[in-house]
Amino acid sequence: MSERTLVLVKPDGVSRGLVGEVIARIERKGLTLAALELRTVDRATAEQHYAEHDGKPFFGDLVEFITGGPLVAIVVEGTRAIPAFRQLAGGTDPVEKATPGTIRGDFGLEVQFNLVHGSDSPESAEREIKLWFPAL
Ligand code: CMP
Repeated sequence: MSERTLVLVKPDGVSRGLVGEVIARIERKGLTLAALELRTVDRATAEQHYAEHDGKPFFGDLVEFITGGPLVAIVVEGTRAIPAFRQLAGGTDPVEKATPGTIRGDFGLEVQFNLVHGSDSPESAEREIKLWFPAL
């Protein structure tokens, strides 16, 4: 069954020139792009996006980082798109969890600068797509 997920190429991924690499991996997997925008996100949107992490010690740094430069927001569509993109991304920690062959495993070193975000559940995907692409 086809579903949609919200993918972010975070500011570190954009500044390192990895947007094309991430999109190529999404497309090679067989997923498609339903919407895509380069955007510098405001604090309110970033705080809503990461609401579940509010109160954690890294929340302030995370919001600073995600608002600190342009990112690419993408709605990705396809069969099992939510877990399929998380498989492509690899675990949150690029060294301890993500394995080589994944985006984070191949290109990342630090948990904060882990290059991409992907919705973690159908509920998160719906909430995040509404937040980033209200017209969809
Ligand atoms: P993401 O998948 O976007 O979801 C939450 C983000 O918080 C995560 O990727 C990381 O970028 C960040 N994060 C999680 N744990 C830590 C941590 N211990 N220190 C800094 N950032 C973190």
